[in-house]
Amino acid sequence: AAGDAAAGAEVSKKCLACHTLGKGEPNKVGPNLFGVYGRVAGTHEGYNYSESYKEMGQKGLTWEEANLKGYLADPLSFVRAKSGDDKGKSKMTFRLTKDDEIANVIAFLMQNK
Ligand code: HEM
Repeated sequence: AAGDAAAGAEVSKKCLACHTLGKGEPNKVGPNLFGVYGRVAGTHEGYNYSESYKEMGQKGLTWEEANLKGYLADPLSFVRAKSGDDKGKSKMTFRLTKDDEIANVIAFLMQNK
């Protein structure tokens, strides 16, 4: 089912511990997420990504719906599968366990551009 962006804005508060969401805001522990929807993985300016994120980007992986869905449910497994490095690392270990929260935060991210 398609997500609810308004509900997703609430879910996105969980991301603020490590990410900024607004345009032009600085990177924190994680990269700024303004416009992340559709962005090539591992490419936000000025952020020092783990190698496996840069590898995903080099393979052309973009943060579209299916990829965000898999990533937010289990970042480490996703990164290892998609980077091609089964020992790859992810500094993001936080995950969302509820399918509706994942769908809703993705709907929010789609609009946050
Ligand atoms: C990376 C989304 C919560 C820490 C990322 C990326 C996305 C993302 C899409 C990859 C960005 C890119 O390739 O440019 C989210 C969302 C969250 C969330 C939607 C909330 C639902 C968190 C939390 C933390 C965190 C709570 C810290 C406890 C990080 C870090 C990275 C990252 C450190 C970079 C990973 C690396 O280079 O190894 N996040 N995140 N995130 N996130 Fe999150």
